[in-house]
Amino acid sequence: MSPRITATDTAPSIWGVAEFISKRPDVDILVLIQVTSPFVKSEHLKLAVKQIQHPVPFDCIFSVVRTHKLRWTLKQGKAKPLNFNTSKRPRRQDWDGELVETGGFYIFRTNIVESGFIQNSNCTVWEVSQEESLEIDSEYDILVADRFLYTNRAQNR
Ligand SMILES: *[C@@H]1O[C@H](CO)[C@@H](O)[C@H](O)[C@H]1NC(C)=O
Ligand SMILES: *[C@@H]1O[C@H](CO)[C@@H](O)[C@H](O)[C@H]1NC(C)=O
Repeated sequence: MSPRITATDTAPSIWGVAEFISKRPDVDILVLIQVTSPFVKSEHLKLAVKQIQHPVPFDCIFSVVRTHKLRWTLKQGKAKPLNFNTSKRPRRQDWDGELVETGGFYIFRTNIVESGFIQNSNCTVWEVSQEESLEIDSEYDILVADRFLYTNRAQNR
C-alpha cells in the first residue's frame, strides 16, 4: 500500500498501521496515538505499554473513560433504557458505570494486525481522566480544550 493512499482524509487508521508494519517488521508492539486527543499523557503511554506485558500478557490495550450516563434508545417512538432498569435506577455511588473508548490511543501487538484489526477478545483497557479523554470532534470540544489549557497555565504560573 502506498503512502499516498494511507494519507487521505478517508483512509482508516489500519492502513497506516499495516504500511508501518510492512516497513518495520522488527516492531512487536505498536502505539497508535490519535492527533484528535491532545491531552494523552506520555507517562500513561509508557505505563500502558508495560501493562500489555505484565503481570498478565494481553494482545492490546486502549484508552477508555468511565461514564455514568443512563443510555436510551427509541423503538417506534418509545424510549427504552439500554443500560439500566427504570424500576431500579442505579445511583452513581452504587454503580461502577461503563467504560467508553476515548479514541486517544491503541497499543497492540503487531501480530494481531494480520487479522485486519487492532483489537481482539484479548484486550485490556487503560482508564484515563475526563480531561485526558477529550477528543476534538467539534468546535465545542475546541472551546473546552482551550479552557482546560488556560486553566492549567493559570495554575502553573
Ligand atoms: C493474550 O495475549 C497474550 C499475548 O499475546 C498471550 O500470551 C495470551 O496467551 C493471550 N490469552 C488468550 C486467552 O488468548
Ligand atoms: C427490572 O427490575 C424489575 C424489578 O426487579 C424486574 O421485575 C424486571 O424484570 C426488570 N426488567 C428488566 C428488563 O430487566
